[in-house]
Amino acid sequence: MKLSLGVSVSLSLVAQVFAQTYWYESIAHQGVAPYNPQGSGYQVFRNVKSFGARGDGVTDDTAAINSAISSGSRCVEGAPGCQSSTTSPAVVYFPAGTYLVSSSILPYYMTQLIGDPNNMAVIKATAGFTGLGLVDGDHYGSSVPDYVTVNVFYRQIRNLVFDTTNIPPGNYATGIHWPTAQATSVQNCVFHLSQAKPNIHVGIFIENGSGGFLTDLVFYGGSPAMNVGSQQFTTRNLTFENSGTAINQLWDWGWTYMGITINNCAIGFDMSAVGTVNGVANGAEVGSVIFIDSHISNTPIGFKTARGSGTYPPTGASLALENVVLTNVPTAIQGPSGITLAGTSGTSTIAAYLEGNSYTGGATKPTNTAGTIAAFPRPASLLSGGHYYTRSKPQYQTLAVSQFSSVRSAGAKGDGSTDDTAAIQSIINSATTAGKVVYFDAGIYKVTTTISIPPGAKIVGETYPVIMGSGSFFSNVNSPQPVVRVGSTAGQNGVVEWSDMIVSTQGPTEGAILIEWNLSSPSSGPSGMWDVHTRIGGFAGSNLQVSQCAVGHAQPNTNCIAAFQSMHITPVASGLYMENVWLWSADHDIDDPSDTQVTVYSGRGLLVESTIGNIWLIGTAVEHHALYQYQFTNTQNIFMGFIQTETPYYQPSPGATIPFSPVASRNDPDFSVYCAGKAATCNDAWALRILSSKNILVYGAGLYSFFNNYSTTCSSHTASVYNENCQTQIFGIDEGGSQSYSGSTVHIYGLSTLGTVSMIDKGGVSIAAQSDNTNAFAETVAMYIA
Ligand SMILES: *[C@@H]1O[C@H](CO)[C@@H](O)[C@H](O)[C@H]1NC(C)=O
Ligand SMILES: *[C@@H]1O[C@H](CO)[C@@H](O)[C@H](O)[C@H]1NC(C)=O
Ligand SMILES: *[C@@H]1O[C@H](CO)[C@@H](O)[C@H](O)[C@H]1NC(C)=O
Ligand SMILES: *[C@@H]1O[C@H](CO)[C@@H](O)[C@H](O)[C@H]1NC(C)=O
Repeated sequence: MKLSLGVSVSLSLVAQVFAQTYWYESIAHQGVAPYNPQGSGYQVFRNVKSFGARGDGVTDDTAAINSAISSGSRCVEGAPGCQSSTTSPAVVYFPAGTYLVSSSILPYYMTQLIGDPNNMAVIKATAGFTGLGLVDGDHYGSSVPDYVTVNVFYRQIRNLVFDTTNIPPGNYATGIHWPTAQATSVQNCVFHLSQAKPNIHVGIFIENGSGGFLTDLVFYGGSPAMNVGSQQFTTRNLTFENSGTAINQLWDWGWTYMGITINNCAIGFDMSAVGTVNGVANGAEVGSVIFIDSHISNTPIGFKTARGSGTYPPTGASLALENVVLTNVPTAIQGPSGITLAGTSGTSTIAAYLEGNSYTGGATKPTNTAGTIAAFPRPASLLSGGHYYTRSKPQYQTLAVSQFSSVRSAGAKGDGSTDDTAAIQSIINSATTAGKVVYFDAGIYKVTTTISIPPGAKIVGETYPVIMGSGSFFSNVNSPQPVVRVGSTAGQNGVVEWSDMIVSTQGPTEGAILIEWNLSSPSSGPSGMWDVHTRIGGFAGSNLQVSQCAVGHAQPNTNCIAAFQSMHITPVASGLYMENVWLWSADHDIDDPSDTQVTVYSGRGLLVESTIGNIWLIGTAVEHHALYQYQFTNTQNIFMGFIQTETPYYQPSPGATIPFSPVASRNDPDFSVYCAGKAATCNDAWALRILSSKNILVYGAGLYSFFNNYSTTCSSHTASVYNENCQTQIFGIDEGGSQSYSGSTVHIYGLSTLGTVSMIDKGGVSIAAQSDNTNAFAETVAMYIA
């Protein structure tokens, strides 16, 4: 007994050391792309070795890798008539090996580049490498990138090592060029850059775009190791060793950094960029940064900023630090005219520090703050080891293929037309009972009643398979029904993990709640949603495209009333971690050759009513819903960073209450009372409403309103015009109307707004005016406490 026990233990150790092949490599690949012009011959999953890549570290694999990407009918980068596409998703998979490349890998629209987390493939540049990035995520075919950066959605890079060390340190080298937008991520990658001093190697270069998510990245060398600018972004768990500058912030409106480790660099975080801003020379180009739960060590300068006395714009380079530990960092913050915060030769913690405009104690005029402040009170249930709890998307890399159950093997078709409801429900139930992971092969799965996800379920998609609610079950606005419900109608306890999927509707479906979360999970070990999105209209198969939902149609167009609500976290739900989640009601048709705008109506964005709370929203965005984007009612203990919204482009023509009449029992906003006597632009969606809720913590928010009836005049800035009046108000706390709410406690760092006259309303009164908080393009309140 003893002996055989010893043998089995050592065998299992051997199995772990000689890591098994990733299940994702060996599982049967049966994913489909039903609307691809190539039909059933279209291949979603492409192993680069099947396209001739050798991965031997000697052969130049560039052409083979790019042929794995370009094979089949795809949205070819730079080709006329393809700005974007949902019909040609591709997973380009790299088995273990070293892949030598001499020019850029060019991922077309909706490509995922994925390696084996148990044995990560290395993409290694030749000494004479040419191109902007070993991976050039948006190639400059002309003077502008081929894909409009703010419309590059739905793509990933995971489990790869990028190595530029063959390239001389004095030559520019870039690991990933990644201008990008919502629902995109880079996870679990390592960058081996030159460690010579000096060098000009960059691990990730982002010069433009609208958000995205980066996590679990390690950079060795480089300067700057990350060189990044975008409207807004969420970045987490990044480690820098031996870089010159670890992170250089080119520009932004708002950016959240969490869990950053910087060791042995020259400068930790550089946000000192200046240029001509609104016609003024030497203006700060970085709008706002939130940087928390991090550690900088053995680095002469922690932060370098453009902000000092008299900085233009007035709120430029707003900065919030919280829980940043310094070890041997002689200068904590270097300003334009000297040290603004001293560092330490030993170890010390910056509990909290702020530069920018703050509003506290009910003030309605800002205080220009520069110095240490009290940290926000952190609810214990949201923490792990003193940091906010985080958990990366599970990749199940220790499981064998036999532990996965494919929905297509179980009889679901995913062809966009077959009713897959019964097949999907059956395999979710049986796989979960058997302790297996449900694997959604790529496809569009039409369902005609609610799909229920029971406690214990683990669900993962190949690219972004779509569950699409269709038909009369989802079309009664007076009796809305979930497309996907997690937990039973009565509420349940347990844990669900769900990643890499999209929930949609096939319109018109005005009674559809795309996701209803009705599951209670513990705060220590919550349920999770990673890269799970809603997409309402604007794609092939939705019946909510340019031909049905043209902007010029008489409005409201009843064929285009497409969802009651994107997501509802109900009172009985609790303990939910959401990371990189984008709830999107379409403003344009992704499958239209010119990305033409559409008018699609969705009632409500994300509603959180969890009485227990313990919800983490890490890198989330909610856009273009009619009544509100985020609403928190009678809830508590919520962490958010960064959150981003956009108001529907058509509003106020029609206004927010058309075609969805507010329902008082759902605590919908009451525009009739709130907007009495106000401008027509009061009748626009709220971006963020907080009602009778406690411990609402926001670490970075960008609430944007660019349009009035499809015109951007209301948000345009020129030398002579500075318009910020697309809507009158955007963010309300206990804002009343015919219903009474009270007692909310809210803490916010880095609130940036665009196109709204009032930035914050509380109890029906404007607290912060945009005109008091001008930044480079947006307006920024560095801290607000209610
Ligand atoms: C970013 O993209 C927008 C839209 O295409 C463009 O107007 C702007 O000039 C770009 N900014 C930078 C810094 O490249
Ligand atoms: C951070 O990323 C590293 C590298 O991928 C990973 O090993 C580690 O578990 C991550 N830590 C957290 C807190 O997510
Ligand atoms: C969730 O559970 C509750 C309470 O147990 C139940 O009454 C309800 O029907 C379910 N759905 C919603 C939206 O609350
Ligand atoms: C909205 O814009 C359209 C197109 O320019 C115009 O015809 C319509 O009159 C506008 N509506 C309002 C209320 O201004």
